[in-house]
Amino acid sequence: MLTFLMILGTLFLIVFNWIWNSTYWSRQGIKGPMGMPIFGNMFQYLIGRRQYGLIYEDIYKSYPKASYIGIYRVMNEPAILLRNTEMIKEIMVKSFPNFSDNVLYVNDKREDLVFCNPFIAKGEKWRVMRSELVPMFTPNKMKLSFPHIASICKKLDSFISNDIGEMPFEGKDLCAKYTLDVVASAAYGLDGESFTNKGSDFTKLVKELFMPNPLSLVHTTALLFLPKLGDLIQYRYLPEKVQQWFVTIISKVMSRRRELKDNNNGDFLQWLIDAKQKTGELVDEFTIIGHCSTLLIEGFETSASLMAYALYEFSVNPHIQKRVQSEIDEVMNKHHGKLSYEAILEMTYLDAALYETLRLHPPMLALLKHCTKPFELPPQFNGVKLREKVVIEEGTIFVVPVQAVHHDPVLFPDPHKFDPDRFSEENKRQRENCSFLGFGEGPRMCPGMRFGFAQSKAGLVTMLMKYNVQLSEKCPKPLEISPTTFLTTSRSGIWLCFKARRLQ
Ligand code: HEM
Ligand SMILES: *[C@@H]1O[C@H](CO)[C@@H](O)[C@H](O)[C@H]1NC(C)=O
Ligand SMILES: *[C@@H]1O[C@H](CO)[C@@H](O)[C@H](O)[C@H]1NC(C)=O
Repeated sequence: MLTFLMILGTLFLIVFNWIWNSTYWSRQGIKGPMGMPIFGNMFQYLIGRRQYGLIYEDIYKSYPKASYIGIYRVMNEPAILLRNTEMIKEIMVKSFPNFSDNVLYVNDKREDLVFCNPFIAKGEKWRVMRSELVPMFTPNKMKLSFPHIASICKKLDSFISNDIGEMPFEGKDLCAKYTLDVVASAAYGLDGESFTNKGSDFTKLVKELFMPNPLSLVHTTALLFLPKLGDLIQYRYLPEKVQQWFVTIISKVMSRRRELKDNNNGDFLQWLIDAKQKTGELVDEFTIIGHCSTLLIEGFETSASLMAYALYEFSVNPHIQKRVQSEIDEVMNKHHGKLSYEAILEMTYLDAALYETLRLHPPMLALLKHCTKPFELPPQFNGVKLREKVVIEEGTIFVVPVQAVHHDPVLFPDPHKFDPDRFSEENKRQRENCSFLGFGEGPRMCPGMRFGFAQSKAGLVTMLMKYNVQLSEKCPKPLEISPTTFLTTSRSGIWLCFKARRLQ
């Protein structure tokens, strides 16, 4: 009898706890979907069926009139999903000090190097790290680093003609080889050997870091949802081996340069050191190594994804591919066939096509912001006052559902159509603020946009100058997103093939 009562009591407590937690928002008069026990609204994500960003998109679609929605993440953690561009602007730009941190559960007791990465760093450390990186991306520095990009384009070109030809290839894999070599060269003056050496250090590193694997779901969950799970599995954003690799290889490059008194390298590493020496600051080798790891980690996969999806869209929209190619031909003719930063900048239609690609396939389907200072919520529905004043506490998560906004038919009519003209100069001016979020917005917006676009455009120009790109029969249509990874990844690859455009 006693055991029976105890079981009943426990059950009652569990049910009560669930109901209490999953009514957090409705008790405050804020609307949103009810959470399930444990899973909250993230059931489909936790069973490995749907990428977390797509779940936010589903909820976004169910409340078309709201300016935000009260939701429940894993373990019924209450969070706010932003539903209109005005609220997004409020959180990311106007009230930035109230939301200054990203939500990424990385533990500073387990690892230290990644805290030099502005994407991860918080508070004052973020401000310092970001201010050291931003000067690396001025238009002038972009121009100076362009020779690195151009030389890797030559390698890409010969790899395609010697090793791929008209055979099917996986787009992201090819583009990642290219961006990895560009970043290795532009950042530290090293040869990534991605095209020539299957076992190169850089190739191995990338396997370690970014390939979807059976543990991706657990890692993504530890990073975005459950710090306690991270503690349990000793999760690291940068695996120990990778951190060690960075420390070894960058220290080696730095000491070689010191010995040879060689400081005329036009690369990010040299500029970082020069900037420190100019202000008379101590050159803190650890921070420099940290910045070098940031450049690689943030710099190569996002651009590779952008390039691969652009190739995909060009394949399924041949008339747009033609228009891109005729712009490329025209500009390259004008520049006597020489790929330069100036030439790349003149390709405005290609630019628009890349923005449109990021709109349809953003590498980050959602961005998460931590409330860092109490914030009073405005009305949830236009003109309808909240039942009571709701002040959000520090630590509450605000979700910016990037993909949902990008696919919203109110903001982008016929949203699944690939139409670069949406991003023509004229249309850009008229577009609503914060409706394009491919690089984020506000003080934490991606500082590497210029470089990301420069390398992506140069690589695409190299390919499309000589080849038409087509879908391979192997390519699933429509593309599905891998449900387990942090960044957008195509579930079964983006399979393409080249066809020579004309006799060279
Ligand atoms: C096309 C390529 C790229 C895309 C789509 C992209 C996208 C993004 C996005 C969405 C964010 C988050 C912004 C936010 O939280 O509001 C971000 C942050 C960041 N990106 Fe990029 N990125 C690209 C290329 C690069 C490159 C090439 C670099 C550097 C070499 C870079 C470095 C960073 C850094 C350091 C941050 C953190 C900024 C901060 O929190 O202050 N990105 N990027
Ligand atoms: C944001 O934080 C500041 C400083 O704590 C506070 O004065 C302000 O009212 C907050 N903004 C909102 C909309 O609550
Ligand atoms: C976007 O914001 C800027 C500055 O706040 C403003 O001048 C502009 O009119 C806004 N654009 C639109 C389309 O609302």
